[in-house]
Amino acid sequence: MNITVTRKLVQRLIEAQGTAISGQQLADEFGISRTAVWKHIKELEEQGYRIESVKKKGYILSALPDTLEPTDIQALLKTGRLGQNMHFLESCPSTQIAAHQLAQEDAPDGTVVLTEEQTAGRGRMARRWHSAANKGIWMSVILRPDVPPQKAPQFTLVTAVAVVRAIEQVTGLKPEIKWPNDILLNGKKCTGILTELQSDADGIQALIIGIGLNVNQLREDFDPEVQDIATSLKMESGDDVDRKQLVSSILYFLEQYSDLYIAEGFGMLKLMWESYSSTIGRPVRARMAKETLEGMAEGITEDGVLQLRTPDGKLHGIYSADIEM
Ligand code: BTN
Repeated sequence: MNITVTRKLVQRLIEAQGTAISGQQLADEFGISRTAVWKHIKELEEQGYRIESVKKKGYILSALPDTLEPTDIQALLKTGRLGQNMHFLESCPSTQIAAHQLAQEDAPDGTVVLTEEQTAGRGRMARRWHSAANKGIWMSVILRPDVPPQKAPQFTLVTAVAVVRAIEQVTGLKPEIKWPNDILLNGKKCTGILTELQSDADGIQALIIGIGLNVNQLREDFDPEVQDIATSLKMESGDDVDRKQLVSSILYFLEQYSDLYIAEGFGMLKLMWESYSSTIGRPVRARMAKETLEGMAEGITEDGVLQLRTPDGKLHGIYSADIEM
């Protein structure tokens, strides 16, 4: 069986967006016989694709298997750059490590690294990121924005808004953002974002944006130590969630919003971020490396810095902290 034809056939069926394509048309397009088309369809069904065969009309793709097959995701993409260059790894220590390597080897803006399993996933503040196999989205996006390094931190906030929009679009759930970059559902964390920088005297060479999204885990799939603070989209919605659609949607919003940020600044995105925030307008405790401050979270600045007012009336700019509410 010619694997390239099988993959191209799926792309063609995805692009048809639920309309039927006849066996004859597919045979003509791919330069193969109708019997060969039928054999490829059977092969795809064995791989978990659901394909309806409608009399006198042809084939309709009605469901994709729950894999992260990159050519399927690319057929779903509505982006110009993000994900057009996609590296899929069945298992790896961390997509951040793989993406750093690719960025040093001149991978283009928008390159994505995606894996089914991370054996050494990393979180903020050198923490471990638990990445259950085949249940989540573990990906890193390489961006090469032409902006000065001091404009880099806002990309974390821009990414958080993009992921929230994608979760809303695909599942209908209503996530909140906890400053700076945790995405919560019912007060529990479903997504973490880690932004790392490669820069030199000429400025930013690459931003490596790592996104870890708990999609189809059940409680027992999480490490016991995080079971009470972590959740997944499936646990909150009760349904299995299509990871391919979600990747495609995240990349779409991330491209839209990072382009908006670069072209017009942070103003509009700051408003969007604040509208999704669970932190702003609430009393919080900010745990930093050297001190802990308690006060009211009043907002974020144009630079994404959290503004915390302590009971003595002083306003503090918080650049990096763990927030408790
Ligand atoms: C956090 O601490 O909240 C950030 C977690 C970021 C996890 C993602 S998963 C994909 C990418 N690869 C990693 O090793 N980490 C990030």
